[in-house]
Amino acid sequence: MGYDLPMKHVFIAIVAITSIRRHLVVAGDVVQPSKVLKQVPAMYVFGDSTLDVGNNNYLAGLDVPRANTPLYGVDYPGSKPTGRFSNGYHVADFIAKKLGLKESPPAYLSLAPGTTPLVVSALAEGVSYASAGAGILDSTHAGTNIPLSKQVMYFESTKAKMQAKVGSTAVRILLSRSFFLISVGSNDLFVFAAAPTDVVALYSSLISGYSAAITSLYNMGARKFGIINVGLLGCVPAVRALNSTAACNDGLNLLAAGFDDALKSLLASLAARLPGLVYSLADSYSLSQVTFANPQASGYVNIDSACCGSGRLGADSDCLPNSVLCGDHDQFVFWDRVHPSQRAGELSAAAFYDGPAEFTAPINFRQLARKI
Ligand SMILES: *[C@@H]1O[C@H](CO)[C@@H](O)[C@H](O)[C@H]1NC(C)=O
Repeated sequence: MGYDLPMKHVFIAIVAITSIRRHLVVAGDVVQPSKVLKQVPAMYVFGDSTLDVGNNNYLAGLDVPRANTPLYGVDYPGSKPTGRFSNGYHVADFIAKKLGLKESPPAYLSLAPGTTPLVVSALAEGVSYASAGAGILDSTHAGTNIPLSKQVMYFESTKAKMQAKVGSTAVRILLSRSFFLISVGSNDLFVFAAAPTDVVALYSSLISGYSAAITSLYNMGARKFGIINVGLLGCVPAVRALNSTAACNDGLNLLAAGFDDALKSLLASLAARLPGLVYSLADSYSLSQVTFANPQASGYVNIDSACCGSGRLGADSDCLPNSVLCGDHDQFVFWDRVHPSQRAGELSAAAFYDGPAEFTAPINFRQLARKI
């Protein structure tokens, strides 16, 4: 683990590695301007901090979770903190790249309220409504994020502006071919686990909220849904740190698994009921299980600690400007005490887009993009 190394050496190593990386990225961009043809006209993104690209930077309030300060973004082009809870890109960016976009579409609140930038982006590449801390339930961390239901309302308002610009037929065609990426539920489960009550009632309200969101998007013209399920919540550094042997919390993992089962059933029933709806359910849970069982196979040396943080497992604090970083950021599954590293996002996107069939059902993201 990097935390025991003398700080000066760690710092020098990081400067060297990041400057080399930056040059590679720049060189790559110049030589290969997006070799991938656009697979879909646009991508619209909904969910939580696993997908947020900066919406929360525009929310008022001290309690709003934001990744807009170093050392977030240290490996992003220009070493810029963007609002992504990652050292660089995250899974939405890598999925976007696979779809032939430059990176995740921009944050809705960075475009609105000005109509023109919003419509231009919505028509050309898409919009991200994802918000860190958000849940399926409006009550989850209420007042400090954009809950799923409100993200869907923002999409509705976006659609109205698109229609005013290019007409409803063009918008209908565009939306039916576009990729709707959703990852949400973790925050609801974390909140529930802190004060557990009736788990059956919990699942039922989560599934009903998720169903309402997908159905609303469908009614507005969305057809292709790429849904990422909830991962091994009990294995994030912040949770492991609560255990004296740094073990995962099996109860939290079970809670997530139960939700994922219900989500799987929900999607099957929605697809049976809503003509033309197609989906790919990405199994973040089992991908984490496989990865944690054999970290070396994915190039990881550490699966239990935050690369950026402090104290035991790097989990005593968030990733802060004065945090001590691990050596090779790509060798850590986790960037901060809750969120995956850029490398983990890249490997997840690869697995969901065109990885082995075990990580997506009933089709993978590539097949979903090409549907119809
Ligand atoms: C730590 O994890 C182990 C293995 O899951 C478990 O048996 C033990 O009860 C946990 N300890 C605490 C304090 O939660």
